[in-house]
Amino acid sequence: MADQIRVLIVDDIPETRDHLTKLLGFESDIDVVGSAASGAEAISIAGSLNPDVVLMDINMPDMDGIAATEELARAVPAASVVMMSVQGEADYLRRSMLAGAREFLVKPFSSDELTASIRQVYSRERDKQSRMAPVVAPVASPAAAGGGATSASGEPREPGTVVALFSPKGGVGRTTVAVNMAVAAATDLGKKVVLVDGSFQFGDVGVLLNLNPKNKSIADLVPELEQAGSGVESIDTFVINHSAGIRVLLAPPSPEMAELITPSGIRRVLETLRATHDLVVVDCTAFFNDTTLAILDAADIILTMLSLEITSIKNMRLFLEVAEQLGYEQGKVRLILNRADAALGIRLADVEHSIGRKVDETIVSDGRSVVYALNRGVPFYLSNREAQVSQDILRLAKSVTGERSHVAATSDARGKSTQKKSLFAWR
Ligand SMILES: Nc1ncnc2c1ncn2[C@@H]1O[C@H](COP(=O)(O)OP(=O)(O)OP(=O)(O)O)[C@@H](O)[C@H]1O
Ligand SMILES: [Mg+2]
Repeated sequence: MADQIRVLIVDDIPETRDHLTKLLGFESDIDVVGSAASGAEAISIAGSLNPDVVLMDINMPDMDGIAATEELARAVPAASVVMMSVQGEADYLRRSMLAGAREFLVKPFSSDELTASIRQVYSRERDKQSRMAPVVAPVASPAAAGGGATSASGEPREPGTVVALFSPKGGVGRTTVAVNMAVAAATDLGKKVVLVDGSFQFGDVGVLLNLNPKNKSIADLVPELEQAGSGVESIDTFVINHSAGIRVLLAPPSPEMAELITPSGIRRVLETLRATHDLVVVDCTAFFNDTTLAILDAADIILTMLSLEITSIKNMRLFLEVAEQLGYEQGKVRLILNRADAALGIRLADVEHSIGRKVDETIVSDGRSVVYALNRGVPFYLSNREAQVSQDILRLAKSVTGERSHVAATSDARGKSTQKKSLFAWR
């Protein structure tokens, strides 16, 4: 086969190397070009083997997989590393990603998971290369890159924009902003919007929108979509039409069901929703795991939220490093400062200095409007549209939906954030 994926296996245990080699031997599009028993050996042979994908064990005696990945990124930058570990801890995952790994598999994994990861990492890298090739890409094209220009029903349609709300720290207002921004885009900007609760274990979107947890959820949809032949028509059965003018795909009703949602499953969900909506808003969890990474990869825009707290700022710095390692373009990751408040003792300028980046948008703190609405299960954007917090949300909604004003919106926001500085008297 002409277009085989060249794989190098790195593991200190000979049986594991043999087992993986045999497993991958069944796949006609994958070619195991070599194996290495240590990080050092991998680095010495990778240059001549020219692998597309390196399967890297994390725990090895001489040089661990993380150090080897860092070295490989320098020596063979075209190779994508899939890290393998018996521990799925967030810290391992984060360190692997910082070192440059593109995927993380927790042992034991199935052969399907293994081959899916290899193919996905390979095609993602190839896509990235091909997207980098043309010198000028049209601004509206990132959405097109993932979704194709035709809806599943065959009608030509611009694929929608996927916006993920993420923060490396919990409790900073992701869900609040996701819900209200979705409502603002639907009611005031006339967009067809679907809100996905991507916090699969402890999703709060249903609570904020006063929805019955007995409704269908993403846990029902994923297995359905993974069956061949089922497509867009089935998605309507799982998405709830909310009176606030948006559509909602809920998180599973109980935490253990989160395991049903795989990275490939969530990718399919987002691609399907993108084909039939203008805007897909995803409220993510506050930690890295494989499904969150799949969402962040698929997103056109990541709104990363922070608050004026030292821990939030520190974690943001780490996240921005990871985002850079993952190859996300600058414009994809936007910084949103929520609960911007003069009385907290940290100045906006200090935050920007500490994370080495400008904040793109700010949202004021307004406990009255936010909590009152929360307790009634009504988005504050509907009950208190005149409030400054609602106006800030509308500006954010405009910046993510304004297809052509993308760049202008960002610089406009910069101007506004400078204005805000004096408005809130950050000293
Ligand atoms: N702009 C704001 N002004 C005042 N209160 C706010 C604002 N944004 C969020 N809050 C409050 O902060 C708390 C956390 O908000 P929210 O649940 O949206 O955060 P989250 O990042 O989704 O948290 P979690 O990590 O639990 O998912 C809530 O009590 C919410 O009402
Ligand atoms: Mg939340």
